[in-house]
Amino acid sequence: MENPFNRAKEDLGNIVMLEHVNVEIPDQKLASEFYLVGLGLTRDPYLFPGTNNMWINVGRSQFHLPTGDPLVLRGHVGLVVPDLEALLARLSAAKKALADTKFACRERNDYVEASCPWGNRIHLHAPDCERFGPVTLGMPYVAFDVPEGTADGIARFYREIMGAAATVENGGDRAARIMVGPHQCLLFRESDKKLPDYDGHHIQIYVENFSAPHDCLAERGLVTEESDQYQYRFQDIVDLDSGKCLFTIEHEVRSLTHPLFGRRLVNRNPAQTNRSYQLGADEWNWALPVDNSKTGMRAPKAAEAATPFAKRRARRLGQQGM
Ligand SMILES: [Fe+2]
Repeated sequence: MENPFNRAKEDLGNIVMLEHVNVEIPDQKLASEFYLVGLGLTRDPYLFPGTNNMWINVGRSQFHLPTGDPLVLRGHVGLVVPDLEALLARLSAAKKALADTKFACRERNDYVEASCPWGNRIHLHAPDCERFGPVTLGMPYVAFDVPEGTADGIARFYREIMGAAATVENGGDRAARIMVGPHQCLLFRESDKKLPDYDGHHIQIYVENFSAPHDCLAERGLVTEESDQYQYRFQDIVDLDSGKCLFTIEHEVRSLTHPLFGRRLVNRNPAQTNRSYQLGADEWNWALPVDNSKTGMRAPKAAEAATPFAKRRARRLGQQGM
């Protein structure tokens, strides 16, 4: 049968979702001023409500911030947020509360760079369907600075051990790009700068084939934790010929049968305030309309925007002649 479609274009590889980045923080007050007030993100209301940990929702992904000595990712985290101008205004307003910390905020050409009170760097981008998929809020990438000469070996490790889709890019600095979900990737960009020592932060991924990567890692003595039935950890990315460690970043690897997979995360609308309050506008819907033209189907008519409650009530009362 004739096939006009490029089927491989839709392949994800074995890693199907990057869910969270975990960095310890020493002070929930400062973390709240940065992640919640400044970035406009949402504290998970259901899990870890106390002072020993806080989970921060970003669309379908999260930051996990256990309380402890600060950990700093060796690179930066890329986020999509709905509105860069509103973001800059919030960050500017948060400056006072974050004075005397490593907080910083800079407007770049097409993104905003912000540093958390302990120096974790975040690049915040406006929504861009082509680049980041149909979302207005999410975590499309984590970028690591890695030693020169390691990108090829890192891509090979993910391809052969993890079963991931991995390529090497040559534009500017060499970089390994590992697909970790629809419109999500890990970037390992070669740098001649001296890297700080690895301090124990981690990322978490979901994989479809859970056992084969485990067997390959175990055979090489690379599994660092047999967490439970649905999760294991490793941290060294190695050259598959020499066994030499190319880069260290702890991965929490979870199966798709993990009880937390597909959990719905609460995301608030950071523009909602008590003084300009709109009923029905508390929650933020992070999805952008999907281009259905490739399915050959006509897109359904978009649902009408919800009418604010007060208007609906006024209309109902008007119809009742009251
Ligand atoms: Fe984790």
